[in-house]
Amino acid sequence: MNKEKTKILVTGGLGFIGSHTVVELQNEGFEVVIIDDLSNSKIEVLDGITSITGIKPEFVQLDLKDKNLVKDFFENHKINGVIHFAASKAVGESVEQPLKYYENNIATLVYLLQEMVKNEVYNFIFSSSCTVYGQADELPITENAPIKSAESPYGNTKQMGEEIITDTTKASNLQAIALRYFNPIGGHESIKIGELPIGVPQNLIPFVTQTAAGIRKELLVFGDDYPTDDGTAIRDYIHVVDLAKAHISALKRLITESNKNKMEFFNIGTGKGSSVLEVIKAFEKVSNKKLNYKIVGRREGDIVSAYADTTLANNELDWYAKLTLEDALESAWKWQLKQV
Ligand code: UD1
Repeated sequence: MNKEKTKILVTGGLGFIGSHTVVELQNEGFEVVIIDDLSNSKIEVLDGITSITGIKPEFVQLDLKDKNLVKDFFENHKINGVIHFAASKAVGESVEQPLKYYENNIATLVYLLQEMVKNEVYNFIFSSSCTVYGQADELPITENAPIKSAESPYGNTKQMGEEIITDTTKASNLQAIALRYFNPIGGHESIKIGELPIGVPQNLIPFVTQTAAGIRKELLVFGDDYPTDDGTAIRDYIHVVDLAKAHISALKRLITESNKNKMEFFNIGTGKGSSVLEVIKAFEKVSNKKLNYKIVGRREGDIVSAYADTTLANNELDWYAKLTLEDALESAWKWQLKQV
């Protein structure tokens, strides 16, 4: 594989997972071009990436909803593969504005795939989510667990996205890998890039760090009456740098044609479940701060427990989560301290 000549398009490359993946791609010698519309990201992230890797990636500010611009982009760039992060991701908002989600996450995917096939760009990595499993009947969750009816339009766009890509692989030379992320957290050890939630964070970790920093008064813990050891819900929190590296493994698999099917699915998590209270305790330990929190009722739509069986990713991608929950919380905390 001649990586010097391997140019990878990263859509949403200035976002949380996208930016960390761009860093790993550049560290591995890939040439990167980023498309981002800056709707949920900041241009300063480009400086962070440049400062970490010493390479400024090409950046094109472009809205993927504009089909003609997507067409022009592919006509003017010779691309060898695409990692597609650009999408809206707020579950609650997707319930209120479903069409925004279908346009942002589905229409754009269709435009991208159309141009890829037309321009003979056949390697595609898709950001999927463990949300496709809903509350799985068996834990840990394997890739064979049934896909449950989606709880939200956001979740539905991930399910539909996987189906659209699968159908396209059957009808063309496209080959693709969907990575089903569990709960990505943390940030780069350099503290030059990290998670940048806009407005009030919906996800646990940014809410925890903002509460510890005094930006939020208290963390609300949604439910302590779940059938778990301490009554709080369990998730598989994966360090974003480990997650970013899974994309490199998946991309190499496609480029070297080591894939076993034209469309493949991999769970990307640590394999370890942590309860909300365990996360709080671990955070208090790494930050040396007491967190102000209060137990309240369950949040609608939340599941009890989800954690990954990562055997398939371990064996097929030769990918392993190496960083711990504590590593991730420490980096998230350092990043938070830099923001205030
Ligand atoms: C959520 C989405 C999921 C999406 C993922 C992206 C829902 C129902 N699910 O996952 O579809 O793919 O984000 O990152 O929104 N919690 C609190 N207090 C808070 C925030 C969260 O107790 O202020 C708890 C939640 O109840 C949950 C855990 O922390 O048990 C993790 O929550 P969160 O970070 O929002 O992730 P998910 O709900 O797993």
